[in-house]
Amino acid sequence: MDARRITGQTKIMLLLADPVSHVVGTEAITAFMRAAGHDFVCVPVHVGPRDLAGAIQALRGYRNCVGSGVTIPHKIPVLPLLDELTDRARAIGSVNCIRRNPDGRLIGDNVDGAGFVRGALEAGVELAGLRVLLLGAGGAGRSLAFALAEAGAAELVICNRDPAKAAGLADAVGATYPSVPVRTGAADATGFGMIINATSVGMAGKDDSRLLDFAKLSADMIVADIVMKPERTGLLQAAEAKGCRVLFGRQMMDGQLALMRDFLGL
Ligand code: ATR
Repeated sequence: MDARRITGQTKIMLLLADPVSHVVGTEAITAFMRAAGHDFVCVPVHVGPRDLAGAIQALRGYRNCVGSGVTIPHKIPVLPLLDELTDRARAIGSVNCIRRNPDGRLIGDNVDGAGFVRGALEAGVELAGLRVLLLGAGGAGRSLAFALAEAGAAELVICNRDPAKAAGLADAVGATYPSVPVRTGAADATGFGMIINATSVGMAGKDDSRLLDFAKLSADMIVADIVMKPERTGLLQAAEAKGCRVLFGRQMMDGQLALMRDFLGL
């Protein structure tokens, strides 16, 4: 399919973000859907928090839109604007993918966490039995926490700049997965099998050295960052220098693509 050709037949997916300059997932989504034979394009749209409700309302009337992705900072605020949520999105309390039904109804799902687990498995990383330190309790962090518990992590420790959000998330995951020990804790890598950065720190090349003490990383740890741009955040560079196995943000994105396709009904 000619990648430059966008017509009235083309199925459009939006990706609402603020800022929008860091967004690279649209290319991966477009390439994946086109490779599957769909006349499809995913378009990044810069929408600030005050305009989110208007953008969601407009989406209801865009008949050639199959839906929209949502990313920073909209994953949680978008919840009450939708008509329906999947069970998963409701439990997680955050949405990253919206399907527009032909009647204009909007259904929210969240495939961040499931995509992370799938991406890790595709890279040969088995999450079951791992002690995991999760940095971040925002929209993506919430999704990852639920998916890690479902994947059978041996223990999950959540650390967030706003500790109340970490505590609320630990309670919610613990209530849904009572067999998984979940607690809040400090950003200290010591003793963990896996460290995941699910914050936006490190995005656009920003200094992420205060996220945790990189000196405490050791070669037996798996280190993941959900940030896609740059590909190698400071955390991942430090992890590679220590000989750790690393997982890139792109691998989590790739893990989500088939899940998004199925959810959008393509
Ligand atoms: P996303 O959808 O990607 O998760 P989000 O819901 O806006 O985006 O969450 C951003 C995450 O990055 C949160 O965990 C946030 O911490 P707070 O909950 O305390 O806001 C974290 N974050 C953003 N900027 C940060 C910073 N400068 N230092 C530490 N954490 C930061």
